[in-house]
This record gives sequence, structure tokens and C-alpha cells, in this order.
Amino acid sequence: MLPSIEQELSDIFGQAFQSLELPFELGAVQRSNRPDLGDFQCNGAMAAAKLGAGNPFVTAEKIVEALANNAPAAALRGDLLIEKLDVVRPGFINLFIKTDYLANKLSQFAVSNSFGCAENLSDHKVMIDFGGPNVAKSMHVGHLRTAIIGDALQRIFRFKGYKVVSDAHLGDWGTQMGMLIQGLKKRQPDLIYFDEHHTGPYPQQSPVTIQDLELIYPEESGFCKTDQQAAEKARQATLELQNGRAGYRALWQHFVNVSVATLKRDYGELGVSFDLWKGESDADPFIQPLLDELVEKAISIQDQGALIVPFRDEEGENIMPPLILRKSDGAVMYGTTDLATLYERVRDDKAQTVLYVVDGRQQQHFKQVFAAADLLGFNQTSHYEHSYFGTVNGKDGKPFKTRSGGVMKLHDLIQMAKDEARKKLAESNFGSDFPEDEKEDIAHKVAIATLKFADLRNFRIKDYIFDLEKFSEFEGKTGPYLLMQVARIKSILRKAKAVDAVTGDLLETTDNEKALTFRLLDFPAVIDRTVEKKAPHFLCEHLYNLAQEFSSFYQKQHIMNEPNKARQASLLRLSEICMLQLEQGLALLGIESLERM
Ligand code: ARG
Repeated sequence: MLPSIEQELSDIFGQAFQSLELPFELGAVQRSNRPDLGDFQCNGAMAAAKLGAGNPFVTAEKIVEALANNAPAAALRGDLLIEKLDVVRPGFINLFIKTDYLANKLSQFAVSNSFGCAENLSDHKVMIDFGGPNVAKSMHVGHLRTAIIGDALQRIFRFKGYKVVSDAHLGDWGTQMGMLIQGLKKRQPDLIYFDEHHTGPYPQQSPVTIQDLELIYPEESGFCKTDQQAAEKARQATLELQNGRAGYRALWQHFVNVSVATLKRDYGELGVSFDLWKGESDADPFIQPLLDELVEKAISIQDQGALIVPFRDEEGENIMPPLILRKSDGAVMYGTTDLATLYERVRDDKAQTVLYVVDGRQQQHFKQVFAAADLLGFNQTSHYEHSYFGTVNGKDGKPFKTRSGGVMKLHDLIQMAKDEARKKLAESNFGSDFPEDEKEDIAHKVAIATLKFADLRNFRIKDYIFDLEKFSEFEGKTGPYLLMQVARIKSILRKAKAVDAVTGDLLETTDNEKALTFRLLDFPAVIDRTVEKKAPHFLCEHLYNLAQEFSSFYQKQHIMNEPNKARQASLLRLSEICMLQLEQGLALLGIESLERM
């Protein structure tokens, strides 16, 4: 990772403080909040006064002197970087940076699309659990956020240099599987899968389609809510499935296969992919060893026939409800599969970090699973975290629904966003003369950008109100606005090229370009903050500000009228770097840019 200017300056100032026998850390330099007085400032002299170093103004002056004279290494570096230093009462040190240094730094950053962000972190494995779709249920608006946020995080962590493994963690092992088996048995009792004496093999062809499953599931689930007997049968079927009854396993595999095919279509539309398509069922081989260890270490106890992990404080008071591992009938639960999956991720896959990008309404569940994991000592080698998110609400402030009050399917939501994109594109007369297939491609990309940016721009733990019309605007903090800005810069560069104005080396940064250059140089710090907080809204904010900054630069600076060719080439290069960073940043959010619109 390339050091930032702040880091370089802090190092120089730190050495100067050290030469006065003051702590190195006091040299911390930050961007100035008064750009008229300086580009950067160091406030260490005031902090030094608190440590008993005396009058801060005098200290600040001594630091400036040290920079010039007695800290030779620092002074040398300082000469390259610093244009002008000022001491201001009570003891601020303001400085302007050399403008050629700024251009130089940006050139270095822009050598690769990593913009100085990437590190070699390939020994650090980060597993990201997101998506979490359920077999036989089509995805709805509730699956939108986990897909969008999880995907952005996997891209950003990978970009930063981590070894990332994402896993869809299919919901394929709970009672809904027993309900499906029961539901199908009612409809087609003669299927070979229900014949207890048949030992296999079973047909390759699935006896059901996804449409069948989507009918059977809600119906059975409805019965189970009111009918004790139906619920009992579903429970029994689930248990038999978990215990390995061959016909049920074969049937289950068909359910999974037909569901995954549809899920892949929906994720494909969103441009979201996973390294692993494992499910809760894959935790099965780890359940027994896990339970054995929990019993052996006396972490779990028997309670009314069930196996549970109680969570108690020193006084023996329960601090939260216990984690139920095995019900009295022997069936395992959602928490059991999650703990067993974590067991696999930590012990076998050796993941140092495991992130769960899952709805905030599951906080209690993860608290219990993680507390049990801590008791097993998983936290000795690994960090696991519920990187949760808030709810997508309708304008009434309640979870978003269709007009008729039903659950909004993800597929339908994407179609709605596409319709809105087509409408807005036509209204703004964008690409009216483009070929039809390009128009369709643009509408699709704009729609995805709309949904993703609207979601990611909010700090993930907050709820937000779904307002498609607002999200689809070409003005304001929206996906379409950013796509338009990228296309605009691309068009500027194309037009320049057409008259032989090409990009060249970056020259000295004048006042017109300073704000834009500083903004571009912020990128690595923004990526780090995003990684640290698992919060892509920091990146969204940066990209929006960058796009705005470009607009004001472009207004001030008439690139095509610039008589000095070398300077014109430098300004075009700056525009190009800006375009590349916007494009890279959007790609990290899972948003594809457009060449033109
Ligand atoms: N399938 C679950 C649901 O729909 C989400 C799974 C989240 N991931 C996890 N490891 N629990 O609620």
C-alpha cells in the first residue's frame, strides 16, 4: 500500500517532535479545515503543552525550525513535500504542499486501478456468508439487502487483498424440507421416493418444478400452522431426512437443484455471485463432532430431553435465552447448523474472519451462536461478526410490500426498476438514437445501479424507505447520477481524442485541480474505512463527492480551450484518472459503468 501524503507528513513531523524529545505521535498531520490557510495542519504543539512542554506557539516554532535544520532526514523529505509552513496562535502549524509533489503522488497512485489501496493479505481468509436464500421459496425484497451489501463487501475485501470466500448458505435443512416432502406425498403418494423398501437408485429427473414447490410450500406451511397432525408429520419427515432416509435425501436433492437453478437466475440478474453454494445441510457431518465436544467440555447440558447451551453469568443468572442444539425428538435447529458451519469454517477452512451479512432481526440468534462459539474457543483464532442491516420499508414506514399488500418478489422488483429506468431515460432523451439492444442493456444497468446505490448509500444498520422514483433520478445521490457522470467523462475524453487532444503526464496541480486531486488521493483511506466498518456507504459517499468535485473542476477549467498542449494533456489525464476511480469504485459496489448514455 502506498503511503498517503498525511502519513508521509506525519512521519516527517513525528521525527521533528522526536528531535525535541517529544512523542512521535504528536506529529500527526491532517487535512486542513481552512484550505485558505493551508492544505494540511499539525496540532501537536497544543497536545505537547498538555504534556508540560510549555507555550505551544514556541513549541510550534521550534518544530518548524527543527524541520528546517536539525532533523536532517525529515528536512530532506520535507523539502520535497512542503512548499510553505506557518505557525498560527495558539500553536497550529499550517502548511501548503508542493504542487508538483501532489501531481507526482497522484501519478503513482494511478499507475494501477488499485489506486494504492491493495496490500498482500492473501494469508488472511475472510469468509462472507450472505444471500441465505431458502429452498423452494423465491427471493423477495428481504433478500435484496443481503445480496447487495454482501456482494459489495466481497468485492471490496478482495480488492483490498484479502483471500475471500463467499458462501450462499442455502436454507435447505429445516422443517420447511419436511413440509415439502409431506406436501408432495399428499399429491403423489406413489412416487418411488416414498417407498421405504426401495434402496435406489432414484430417477435423475426431478418429479417437481420450482413452480410446484412454490405452490406446495405455502400451502403446507399454512396447514402446519393450524393442523397439529400435519405439523407432526412434517416434523417427522424432517427428522427422517436429517437421519438419512434414502428416498427423502434423493427427493431433497431434487428440491435443492430446481431451487438453485432459479436462484442463480435472480442473482445473475443482480450481477451477484458466490464462490460456494453450500447450505445448512453441509453442516451435517460436523454436527456430531460439535455436539460431542460441547458435551465433553460441559458447555452444553440436557434440559427436559433437549440439548442446550445455557448462557450464565458468574452468579449463575441466565444472561440470555439458551441455544437449543437438539430438540427432545432429536431434530437439530437453525442455531445448531449455524454453529456447526462456523465449526467447519474456523477449524477446517481456517478462516480468520467470518462475516454474516444477515438481517438485523437475527441479532439474538447470532449472539447465541457466537457466545457458544466463544465458549468453544473459536475466538482464539478467528473473528466472527454479524454485519447486520436494517429493513427496507415502504412509504408507510412498514416493511415494503406490493401494492396489494403481498410479499414483493425480487424478480418483480428488478423488473419495476427496469421499467422506471426506461421511462427516465426516455424522458431525459438519453440514447434515443442508440440501437435497441444497447438501449435495453443501458436500462438494465441503470436499474441495477439504481437499486444497489440506493441501498448501499445508507449506513447498513439503518432502515430505509423504498422510493423507486427518487432512486431513479439522474440528479442527487443516486446510481443513475454516477453512471451519467462516468459516461460524461468518457464522452469528454472521446471528443478530445477526436481532435487529437490526448492524455499526458500530470503536471503541477493548480488551484483549480487541488480539491479534485485531494479527493482522488483519499481513495485508499476510504477503502480502509469501508473495510474496517464493513460499511460500503463510505465508498458511496466518496464517489458521489468525487463526481461533484469533477463537475466543479470541469466548470472552472475549460480543458478544450487550454492553449498549452502539455497542460491540456495533464488536465485530460486528471479527468481520466477521475473516470477510472469512479468506474473502479462503482465496480466495487457491484455497479457496471456504461460507455455512453
Ligand atoms: N436462510 C436464512 C433466512 O432466510 C438466512 C441465513 C443467513 N445465514 C446464516 N448463516 N444464518 O432467514
